[in-house]
Amino acid sequence: MSASESYGAFAYAYDQALGQRYFRAVRRLLAEVLQRYPVEGGMHLDVACGTGLAMPFFAGRGFVSTGVDLSTVMLRVARSRAARLIAGDTRALPLRGTFSRITCLYDSLNHMLEPSDLALAFSEIARVMDGRSQFLFDMNHPEIYPEVWGMKEPFVDEGPDFHLEIATTYRRREKLGRALVTGWAIARGERVAIRERHTQRCYERDEIIAALAAGGLEPIEEHEFDPWFEGRTVKLFFVCRKKS
Ligand SMILES: C[S@@+](CC[C@H](N)C(=O)[O-])C[C@H]1O[C@@H](n2cnc3c(N)ncnc32)[C@H](O)[C@@H]1O
Repeated sequence: MSASESYGAFAYAYDQALGQRYFRAVRRLLAEVLQRYPVEGGMHLDVACGTGLAMPFFAGRGFVSTGVDLSTVMLRVARSRAARLIAGDTRALPLRGTFSRITCLYDSLNHMLEPSDLALAFSEIARVMDGRSQFLFDMNHPEIYPEVWGMKEPFVDEGPDFHLEIATTYRRREKLGRALVTGWAIARGERVAIRERHTQRCYERDEIIAALAAGGLEPIEEHEFDPWFEGRTVKLFFVCRKKS
């Protein structure tokens, strides 16, 4: 397994700088899929749940929602949104039983730095699915790595409670995008410094499909997703089931 990609103090600026805006965009896709394949109540699992943004959405639709994330700091922020939260790795889910709907959102699976890790994550997710379960996830479109992660200027955002800068680089040969996240945020009344590095791997669509198959999953829907209405595909969004 490759190194952990758990988020640290970045968690305290995450919602305002990135998470809420992305969830506002992806919730439309989630609502459409839930409408197309209705399920009465049921169990929802959010893998790499981060600050738990997706969990009230599912709870509000009658699901009992559980979140798993590697970062205890992200989970601390999630506590205001959800009760069932577990620290754990996507590649070794600390769970038994099955869930009717599973999500893994905002390119969390691009943190799997080896194709074998991605296949392992998918096989763990398949392990907690039954024949009627569905797994909904997005990953970054491969073209955005050279374009967006290769940009010279850092991403900068700020508000009264945070200042965030994300400087990125992309190495085509390794297919790895690296981010240096710096700034500060107010957490429980105190100003905390943010300085952490994260790495993502760019996956071609065919690599994602191959890892799904290796993990025992198959796509039933695939969408090119433009969350920011920029006129380009930024994410690939999949709806999958367990292979029969
Ligand atoms: C971009 S955030 C997305 C969070 C959330 N899914 C959302 O939509 O806002 C990526 C998350 O993946 C988590 N993560 C990274 N590697 C992980 C792993 N191996 N197992 C579990 N969580 C992981 C990080 O801690 C972080 O919370």
